[in-house]
Amino acid sequence: MSMTQDELKQAVAKAARDYVADTVPAGAIIGVGTGSTANFFIDALAAIKNRIDATVASSEATKMRLEGHGIRVLDLNEVSSMPVYVDGADEITSGLAMVKGGGGALTREKIVAAVADKFVCVCDESKLVDTLGKFPLPVEVIPMAREHVARQIAKLGGQPKLRAGFVTDNGNVILDVRGLNISDPVGFETALDGIVGIVTNGLFARRGADLLLLATPAGVRQMGK
Ligand code: 5RP
Repeated sequence: MSMTQDELKQAVAKAARDYVADTVPAGAIIGVGTGSTANFFIDALAAIKNRIDATVASSEATKMRLEGHGIRVLDLNEVSSMPVYVDGADEITSGLAMVKGGGGALTREKIVAAVADKFVCVCDESKLVDTLGKFPLPVEVIPMAREHVARQIAKLGGQPKLRAGFVTDNGNVILDVRGLNISDPVGFETALDGIVGIVTNGLFARRGADLLLLATPAGVRQMGK
């Protein structure tokens, strides 16, 4: 019987919950991502909430969902290290470079991930690609820099489009960049970081995932470690 995309997301969320239960010391602090797959992870995490001390959330939406389950959420400034950060992705390569930010939470995601020892990415198999860029690359921009950044991105070959009616948790806007075929994710992430006015770009390549849990109808595959 075939599985729906939600069933695949649920299966990988449970696998990530089991990974946390099996590998993370009792009383640890866990970083938690944003999006529909992360939401299934949060719901699964509730079953082992007594094993963890607290979490750090990568968005206001994630914070609310965690607290709704009675799971404690700390400000990142109170936390100096975390064994693991669990989050989804919009695209991921077999080299574990990702495009993220479809939900617009890329900046806080990149920051929380930076504090974690290990990035565990949870995806259904539709997210695994040979080359990043088919999914429009989200870029969070300071509002007054929007047109400047758009012109610079066009020079790099992308077609930026303002995400209409969307404001990030940080009060900024998102440009979704189409028309990219990203053969060098680390180089392109670095190039975008050099454009003044960009807060964060959605390439997670310099710090990619360490472990990918990938849901397939045949079971959850592991790539990386
Ligand atoms: C949010 C993200 C998400 O991880 C990404 O959009 C994947 O979401 P979903 O699990 O709903 O497919 O980066 O900013």
